[in-house]
Amino acid sequence: MTLDNDADLQALKEIGGIVARCLRYMGERLEPGITTLELDKLGEKFLEDHGAQSAPRTMYDFPGGTCISVNEEVAHGIPGERRIGATDLVHIDVSAVKDGYYGDCGASFAMDPDNELDRRICQATRKALREAMRRARAGRPIRGVGKAMETVARRAGFGVIRNLGSHGLGRSLHEEPTFVPGFDDKNEGRKFTNGMVLTLEPFLTTGRQQAETAEDGWTLYNIDGSRTAQFEHTIVVTKSQPIVLTNPR
Ligand code: CO
Ligand code: CO
Repeated sequence: MTLDNDADLQALKEIGGIVARCLRYMGERLEPGITTLELDKLGEKFLEDHGAQSAPRTMYDFPGGTCISVNEEVAHGIPGERRIGATDLVHIDVSAVKDGYYGDCGASFAMDPDNELDRRICQATRKALREAMRRARAGRPIRGVGKAMETVARRAGFGVIRNLGSHGLGRSLHEEPTFVPGFDDKNEGRKFTNGMVLTLEPFLTTGRQQAETAEDGWTLYNIDGSRTAQFEHTIVVTKSQPIVLTNPR
């Protein structure tokens, strides 16, 4: 959506804060041995306790309240009996709706802080998000954010998942601008406009730059088994720095 009044901004900040605090809450409860379903139930209860509903469940009938993707899983992992291991790289993605307004955020968590590769890919993905944010300004080309993400990834020795992108949202989970590429796409000719609400979500990978759909119909994973990190914020584009809606506050 395009934001043009304060009431909409306040409502988006409200749901943005809830999903961000839910993500932080789930991250704090991540420990070896917990199943992704146990973690998901904690997250969904948090959303409900704050008057919000899971967006993937209500919009798409996703079999979970949040998406939890482990190691070779890139996104949309279904919460289940998988137990988190001591060396896993876990991505949690929380999107929810309250009073008809949507928020979406995500983060990766390296269970082993001494794992050099996990630490580096998380650091690079955070940087890709920061650099993308600097390029999301009214009047500037949308292509610039993908270019920034890909440049940060390459310099750190990683690649980007090319078939996953950022997206507009607001009154729905996915709106215009749809599929904002996470790489420098010469066919991307759109421009950022003032008040545009969208996610920025780089997916960096140590291997193949393509996610495939698993047999469950939901989970996106890397067939070469390599790991991915993702960090995601929902922002509002302005003429200067974007407003980050998914701050835990
Ligand atoms: Co998300
Ligand atoms: Co998203």
